Amino acid sequence: MKILLIGANGQLGSDLVKVLREDHDLIPLAHADVEVTERASVDAVLERYRPDLVMNMAAYHKVDACEEQVEPAFAVNAFAVRILALACRDHGAVLLHMSSDYVFGGDKTRRTPYVETDRPAPINVYGVSKLAGEQFIQVVLDRHFLVRVSGLYGVAGSSGKGGNFVELMLRLAREGKPIRVVDDQRLTPTYTVDLAHQIAALIETRRYGLYHATSQGDCTWYGFAAEIFRQSGLNPDLSHAKTGDFGERATRPAYSVLENKALQSIGLDRMRHWKEALAAYLAERRDTHRSD
Ligand SMILES: NC(=O)c1ccc[n+]([C@@H]2O[C@H](COP(=O)([O-])OP(=O)(O)OC[C@H]3O[C@@H](n4cnc5c(N)ncnc54)[C@H](OP(=O)(O)O)[C@@H]3O)[C@@H](O)[C@H]2O)c1
Repeated sequence: MKILLIGANGQLGSDLVKVLREDHDLIPLAHADVEVTERASVDAVLERYRPDLVMNMAAYHKVDACEEQVEPAFAVNAFAVRILALACRDHGAVLLHMSSDYVFGGDKTRRTPYVETDRPAPINVYGVSKLAGEQFIQVVLDRHFLVRVSGLYGVAGSSGKGGNFVELMLRLAREGKPIRVVDDQRLTPTYTVDLAHQIAALIETRRYGLYHATSQGDCTWYGFAAEIFRQSGLNPDLSHAKTGDFGERATRPAYSVLENKALQSIGLDRMRHWKEALAAYLAERRDTHRSD
């Protein structure tokens, strides 16, 4: 397949490049190569490369900043997705777009993981903008993959957020400072290498539609931090915090665990347990640092 990858130097984008270039004619584009909020820019790259599939990793996902930066958040997370869907429709391309667990509001009375048929009910601007992006694709373009993910971490670090949670925890531990982490938000952290392999398998199926794709199991951010330190043989001064303790602007769901039900239903759920994935990430970063 000829694949145009937008946001190729981001966190997930970097791992997609490594996985997809093996079997596909891959065109990786950075922000300098295309501006997704501008139809002319998107048309120009589709016209030039004529891809079979466009993958969109571009996002405005600083969750707290979105509360005040509503227009840029909607420009990238919603209106640009409509632009991409329209351009793909006109050029006969498939579109794969990434969405988020934050389209849900943690409102389930019984805490069972959200499946694709659950009704979204976002509680912050970021979640509303991502949901609007999903709806634009669904309205405009039949041949699409929408993939909701959660708590991403990869060796490239999120360019939008400047790093990732694992690296932040390891840095704070190195600095020897007391570390406080919220224990009232439950999610599933997901390693971008695993996700890249899962996406590579999904695009082969041509089974278009909405998919959840996260690691198995779940934890709170506190539980994730504790496991990072356990697996790294570190014993920092770690304590529990509550949502709001740090004056965050955005409300966050207390529970946003996703179940990969649609992937399971087509026999394609390849995601491993989050603890196993974390071990693989820690090994990868050790290898990366060794070869520096
Ligand atoms: N990170 C998470 O925990 C998380 C959780 C749930 C869902 N997601 C979703 O997963 C996807 C990938 O996340 P990520 O962490 O890999 O993101 P990331 O590291 O911030 O990568 C985003 C990429 O898109 C580029 N980009 C941003 N705005 C653009 C624009 N207007 N036009 C063209 N390119 C643009 C960025 O380039 P520059 O940096 O040069 O601008 C970067 O290469 C996003 O859709 C995000 O909403 C992420």
